[in-house]
Amino acid sequence: MINDLWYKNAVVYCLSVETFMDSNGDGIGDFQGLQRRLDYLAGLGVTAIWLMPFQASPGRDDGYDVSDYYNVDPRYGTLGDFVEFTHGAKQRGIRVLIDLVVNHTSDEHPWFKEARADKTSKYRDWYVWSRTKPKNASEGMVFPGVQKSTWTRDTHSGEYYFHRFYDFQPDLNTANPLVQAEILKIMGFWIQLGVSGFRMDAVPFVIAEKGADVKKPKEYFDMLRAFREFLQWRKGDSIILAEANVVPRENMQYFGHDGERLQMMFNFHVNQSLFYALASADTRPLARAMRDTEKLPRTGQWGVFLRNHDELDLGRLSKNEREAVFSAFGPDEDMQLYDRGIRRRLAPMLGGDIRRLKLAYSLMYSLPGTPVLRYGDEIGMGDDLSLPERNCARTPMQWSNEPQGGFTKGQKPVLPLISQGPYGYENVNVAFQRRDSDSMLNWTERMIRMRKEAPEIGWGTCTVIDCQDPGVLIMRYEWRENVVVIIHNFHDKPVEISFSLNNKGNPGMLIDILDGHDSQATGTYEHHIVLEPYGFRWYRAGGLDYLLKRSEV
Ligand code: NOJ
Repeated sequence: MINDLWYKNAVVYCLSVETFMDSNGDGIGDFQGLQRRLDYLAGLGVTAIWLMPFQASPGRDDGYDVSDYYNVDPRYGTLGDFVEFTHGAKQRGIRVLIDLVVNHTSDEHPWFKEARADKTSKYRDWYVWSRTKPKNASEGMVFPGVQKSTWTRDTHSGEYYFHRFYDFQPDLNTANPLVQAEILKIMGFWIQLGVSGFRMDAVPFVIAEKGADVKKPKEYFDMLRAFREFLQWRKGDSIILAEANVVPRENMQYFGHDGERLQMMFNFHVNQSLFYALASADTRPLARAMRDTEKLPRTGQWGVFLRNHDELDLGRLSKNEREAVFSAFGPDEDMQLYDRGIRRRLAPMLGGDIRRLKLAYSLMYSLPGTPVLRYGDEIGMGDDLSLPERNCARTPMQWSNEPQGGFTKGQKPVLPLISQGPYGYENVNVAFQRRDSDSMLNWTERMIRMRKEAPEIGWGTCTVIDCQDPGVLIMRYEWRENVVVIIHNFHDKPVEISFSLNNKGNPGMLIDILDGHDSQATGTYEHHIVLEPYGFRWYRAGGLDYLLKRSEV
């Protein structure tokens, strides 16, 4: 039964078809290329793939501007290739999640074209219009510095249309029942083609009231219940993973108090304080963020991530905390974006320090929730700051030291490969790391195995244990009488810590499931442990016979 809620203990791998593997030499990744890399992903141990948008699109926001929800963009292949891919993934026990971008369409979507061409069109009311320019047109921009307004005059109809994001992404009028019905139809289509659910883009905007006179938008949370019900009627184990960077007190509205809304959300709150902890060796805000987000319905789950395809958004940290992260990880202006974040990949942010990288990923695999990795993280890929906005961290996957990193046989990759320097494909690639037993790739594979063997993290109750040192985070998970203890040292120096688990009924032994550093408690269940700079430990409580012990049902 525990595996029925598969997403509680999944390991999700996020990739863009466009930049993963090109099979036909046109420089653009495609489904046939991805299909050939399925064994690689299965070997890594991931249990779900999240595909970034691959539907037909003019590609002005990397596919987050869809012009046909029911088709694969021809540059990536056909619907036939897509189904072959989902079938291949299923054969290897890997589920597929796809992006669902329904807050807005592309301005080249036929619905919008019709809506702007004819005010009496049935699609007119699928978008959000105003005769005059609303007073708040220069407020609420998601991409400040790049986006000029949230209302743009449509030269065809002479009226203004609302767009929360770029002007080529007109917002759908999601309150319109016809639009809602279409969203269900889109979900039903892809579910039928083999996906296990959706990463839903921009959820707070999807459910927000939209319009020229709206000052304080109401939120239509019931829409989320309707999405979930529909999905579960069609395919019981399908889920929605929400992109919703909201304050913790709103979380339960998204999950639903009885778990009747969305199954998963990304934990942006923990993400930001995690970066603060990495920057300052102060884990107190992180522990607070964990407490603030610990309440979940039984069927709910967090998506835990480090860096994603967007900027690292630090907007919810205090000013001092934000400045600490900027100065540690993104001090230069060209590393920063949209007045709130850092656009770099993780490896260069951490100065390529393998100890810190492993610390960060160990945290990602062990914080409460389900880890979501990003392609290239498993080999420590870097970024190219000469590329605009978020493209710097979206360069093609580095497979080998062959020309174009083995990504394409063609001459012109869709985005340039990172070449030369410490992160160039000549040095950082899968082929090299595959045969090096100490590589990041092989370490990642091992950590994924550890995560899968510790379902306590996905299901259990997490308590942060105090050890008097704010630079050390001790998490104790308990589930079905199994106890897992995970410790991280954020200091750049060795530390000696003491803590007590007060375990009832076990012999006070902590078995190290990663290395050979078991710890036997003293009479009062006190453990005394020395951790290396940026060191971490994964323990299972009990005697040796407790190793791997867990309930299966
Ligand atoms: C959030 C996505 O993560 C981002 O990449 C995109 O630009 C916006 N939503 C608009 O769809």
